Amino acid sequence: MDPRLQRRVQRYGWDRAAASYEQYWMRQLEPAQAGLLAMAALIPGQRVLDIACGTGLVTFPAAAAVGAEGAVAGTDIAGSMIEKGAGEAEARGLRHVSFDRMDAEDLRFEESMFDTALCGLGLMYFPDPLQSLREAFRVLRPGGRFAAAVWGRRSRCGWAGIFPIVEERVDSEVCPMFFQLGQADLLERQFMEAGFENVRVERIETTLRYDSVEDAIGAAFVGGPVALAYSRFDEETRAGAHADYVRSIEPYRRGTRYEIPGEFVIAGGTKPMEIAAAAFSKRAGTADA
Ligand SMILES: C[S@@+](CC[C@H](N)C(=O)[O-])C[C@H]1O[C@@H](n2cnc3c(N)ncnc32)[C@H](O)[C@@H]1O
Repeated sequence: MDPRLQRRVQRYGWDRAAASYEQYWMRQLEPAQAGLLAMAALIPGQRVLDIACGTGLVTFPAAAAVGAEGAVAGTDIAGSMIEKGAGEAEARGLRHVSFDRMDAEDLRFEESMFDTALCGLGLMYFPDPLQSLREAFRVLRPGGRFAAAVWGRRSRCGWAGIFPIVEERVDSEVCPMFFQLGQADLLERQFMEAGFENVRVERIETTLRYDSVEDAIGAAFVGGPVALAYSRFDEETRAGAHADYVRSIEPYRRGTRYEIPGEFVIAGGTKPMEIAAAAFSKRAGTADA
């Protein structure tokens, strides 16, 4: 997929998903976000960058961990996500948290500004995840830590049928790289290629629990990565896609509820204390969505 198109699909898709994202995904993503924060091991006073922060489900716990003497910058490509996070920060009176719309592959920050960078369930959506890792590396101080969480292997994610079901109806790939980073040791290798050392990777098995078929459908189609494509379906196309998806998750139905298996991969690495000057250079900016 053309990178600019992919950025646009992500930006406007997540704009649509923003309103229902927490309703459908907050509970389901909690194990990945907790694992990510544990991997980052934040301490009071740190300056933290949260890349692809969404509504702030990682940003706010990070802000609590670093305290008011620290600072957390949340960035995301989708304006509605950023607005939601900024509104919440204001409502909570948090002055050490900021939200800005920004492409993960082209961070508008100076080098070495942050002690820690985080990216919760975002890397799979970027056209060039390695470039975003290089950007995280650039903006971290030497000795700073980067931690990321992605979905694991397709064969371990019982809801993976959603992608072919939607793609069949839109003539293009919706999320070409979605499960790639969760394969074998790819994430670990990308961390090392970006320059990180002491790289550590963990896999977490999880279960996505839905109280009803409507919840399972809403999470898959409305609150997540296929929201833009889905918004353009007419009623008949929606009904067909729902029926195919419900069939694909039938093995995980428990009466009227669903327990769908999933897998997360959490990776962490450190920017070396001694690095070649070339590693600081910033690539020419990517054309934004
Ligand atoms: C599944 S949400 C994760 C949000 C949050 N980190 C969390 O854990 O709840 C994925 C986020 O990635 C963002 N995203 C997708 N492509 C992006 C890009 N190229 N640059 C920055 N953010 C991007 C989306 O807008 C969306 O908010």
